[in-house]
Amino acid sequence: MDKVFYVTTPIYYVNAEPHIGHAYTTILADFMCRLHRMLGYDSYFLTGTDEHGDKINIAARDHGTTPQEYADRISGIFKKTWEDMGLDFNDFIRTSEQRHEQVVREILQKVYDSGDIYFGSYGGYYCVGCERFFTEKEMVDGKCPDHDRKLDYIEEKNYFFKMSKYQGWLTDHITANPDFIRPERYRNEVLSMLRGEALEDLCISRPKTRLSWGITLPFDENFVTYVWFDALINYVSALGYPDGEKYKKYWSSAQHIIAKDIVKPHGIFWPTMLKSAGLPLYGNLNVHGYWNMDEAKMSKSLGNVVRPLDLVSRYGGDQIRYFFLREMTFGNDARFSEDVIVDRINYDLANDLGNLVNRTLNMLNKFFDGKVPAFEPGEPADRDEIRKRLRSSAEGYISFASAFQTSLGIERMWEFVRHLNKYIDQYKPWQLSKEGRTAALSSVMRNLLESIYSVAFLLSPMLVNSSAVLMSAMRRSAAEFDLESILSMEQLEEGYRIKEVGILFPRLEKAAAAEEEGKNDGAKKEKTMEEGLVDIQDFAKIDIRVAKILKAERIEGSDKLLELQVDSGLDERTIIAGIAQAYDPESLPGKKILLVANLKPAVIFKKKSFGMLLAAKKDRGDRPVLIEVHESVPTGARLS
Ligand code: MSP
Repeated sequence: MDKVFYVTTPIYYVNAEPHIGHAYTTILADFMCRLHRMLGYDSYFLTGTDEHGDKINIAARDHGTTPQEYADRISGIFKKTWEDMGLDFNDFIRTSEQRHEQVVREILQKVYDSGDIYFGSYGGYYCVGCERFFTEKEMVDGKCPDHDRKLDYIEEKNYFFKMSKYQGWLTDHITANPDFIRPERYRNEVLSMLRGEALEDLCISRPKTRLSWGITLPFDENFVTYVWFDALINYVSALGYPDGEKYKKYWSSAQHIIAKDIVKPHGIFWPTMLKSAGLPLYGNLNVHGYWNMDEAKMSKSLGNVVRPLDLVSRYGGDQIRYFFLREMTFGNDARFSEDVIVDRINYDLANDLGNLVNRTLNMLNKFFDGKVPAFEPGEPADRDEIRKRLRSSAEGYISFASAFQTSLGIERMWEFVRHLNKYIDQYKPWQLSKEGRTAALSSVMRNLLESIYSVAFLLSPMLVNSSAVLMSAMRRSAAEFDLESILSMEQLEEGYRIKEVGILFPRLEKAAAAEEEGKNDGAKKEKTMEEGLVDIQDFAKIDIRVAKILKAERIEGSDKLLELQVDSGLDERTIIAGIAQAYDPESLPGKKILLVANLKPAVIFKKKSFGMLLAAKKDRGDRPVLIEVHESVPTGARLS
């Protein structure tokens, strides 16, 4: 089979500006496109805007402008938002474009010629928000369940598409191709619509007397095309159906991404339209859940709608992509919360991945002047085991992510990242250096560098910018992708000096978000300050870890201070501690204590101290007692 991949998002209505729900779908499509490109596919990504219909007509009227002017403006905002977010779509289709209108008319004519369109009379309950008629069964208390609006009964003469004719065929197709609509719950939803009562025919026109903003039917110029029949066709019109090269190349590999709100048009209208017009079906319909948020936080009247670009400027593009792709389990709803964004950035990106990179590159600078060391065959330092773990994580990641299960896939890569941090703790390169075991040190560092390179490569569809920084710092030129060579961990050039990358993922203080909230909640904040209490976010800024004392010496000229060497789990460092009157230096090595690891370095008695030990005393004059930790708690474990 050809390695071809074509991914689409819904084309968004231009009656409102982009919000985080649209951003999620578009980020997911961008990720899937890049992932497949990385895997060697010829990959194509389409998004765009849906511009016809009642809804846009009404919005334009409310803004005192024409539908076309209104659509131009909002469509431009969508396109620019995606560009500014670095989303790399290949094409942006607008349904008011000539190239689209022409294909819609062509397909309508085909369906008409095949005898699947008839003229008839129709009465039904119409929801402008959904742009469709509702059956009585679908309504809740006479209202549209999605828009909570009383539905008007409309009766008019219109054209109908014989959708019912394809009911049996579609049911069989979905049953025989269980992946056609995924995940399963949405396939079942469509099957239950199909297996319930008889499918009604689809009303596909609107009389121009009621609505003129649309595509005129090719066989009756008194009518425009129903917006869904028009919009769905974007997926082929953008490819240049029927003769375009892109159409021939990409169409049958199509992967549609939508949310659960528009399953029926995509799962029922669209396949039956394709069948009737004699086009092959799309590959899969991939349905995700909804991002739900606190109503108060998203209400327009409060003026605090979360805009995708604000998120990116506040947290960073890679960080936001990571949050969205990691946090939503495909098919389920997820909760949008900025606190969770901060946690994901701090724990997964800064602590796990960022720390791994920083520790490794700092040690490389210290021990090898920043240059890629040789791999010493006599000292493999678990090279085969690391390779095996990398392979299993990478394969899991690729297979889950390819099936749109990004969260599960990313978690598999993080298992590997966390293993690498443990690997450092286990081999303690600083100790190998001290013991003069250069060959072992070389192999350990080389294993780490190769692993980091592979991780950066594999995550590049998600961490687009940070991966590029890392990869270009580690290698002169980007490699052609070949999974086997990435998994072989033999990508780097011995002796090449790795460039500085800085802090890839700075830790964030939730306080920033808390402060924002504080504006709405000033009284609460004041009270907290009055009582001398701190927010949990303030506490979370302090990085307290279990450290092991390696060495302790008195400092000449001071009767209070000791100079300690400690293993913090991150590194080996010097601490100047005021405990000389309470402890003999000889009694200290081997003790596990608590270290404030992210304190700014301070010069004490002409010596630099990198952190502070925690000790306690009841009264001023008492001697400080070190807070000791049981030996079973691992060095480097973080207090939380
Ligand atoms: N114009 C139609 C689609 C036509 S496709 C041929 C439409 N547009 S829309 O602007 O309402 O976009 C709906 C889509 O936006 C959803 O299917 C989903 O992709 C995305 N989302 C909108 N709100 C969302 C959430 N709260 N959560 C997740 N995705 C959401 O329907």
